[in-house]
Amino acid sequence: MARVLPLGVLVSGRGSNLEAVIRAIEEGRLPARIKLVLSNRKEARALSIAAQHGIPAEFIDPKNYPDRESYDLALAARLKEAGVELVVLAGFMRILSPAFLEQFPLKVINIHPALLPSFPGVEAQRQAVEYGVKISGCTVHFVDAGVDTGPIIAQVAVPVEDNDTPETLAQRILEQEHRLLPEVIRWIAEDRVVVKGRRVYVRKEDKGE
Ligand code: GAR
Repeated sequence: MARVLPLGVLVSGRGSNLEAVIRAIEEGRLPARIKLVLSNRKEARALSIAAQHGIPAEFIDPKNYPDRESYDLALAARLKEAGVELVVLAGFMRILSPAFLEQFPLKVINIHPALLPSFPGVEAQRQAVEYGVKISGCTVHFVDAGVDTGPIIAQVAVPVEDNDTPETLAQRILEQEHRLLPEVIRWIAEDRVVVKGRRVYVRKEDKGE
């Protein structure tokens, strides 16, 4: 039996990936519990989604901190206080400083709407359409100090259609994000993810036979 993994989720906006994680937990597909949702944007819809599900959710205003590092350390302190063991970036549109990452070594994951290392950073779906690739997708990776450069845990490919706009492609990728993110968190909860340098392996499921 997997233990219940205490999660912290960092968000900036719509919160559909947060919603997918909540749904997986509520449906018994993911042995985890969201202890705290933190947002750097007050108006993030993700905050109200968390509240609707009885999950503690807070806006922490970057303007109240003199620099990135002190803001990040405030986030880390709140997550530690809440007993968080895995930090999930679900549409969190800030780069985390090394000071934050040192508090959670190999315990921060991010979902990105492209097949990394292609199209890191913002507007990945627009980058893919404008580049003209025929396949894009989504990636879940461990976060390191770079921009979307950490070790890759899992990817799903999504075709780019001739008539795609960034928006239609984003929607098709998003459906896969909603499947992939809860699944990767489940692998971590089940202690099946092994990191060897840049390479990440997922051990086969223990069926208890
Ligand atoms: C998602 O597509 C996520 O992959 C992307 O932002 C969106 C958030 O949607 N993240 C990044 O681009 C990070 N570089 P959501 O708030 O509905 O989950």
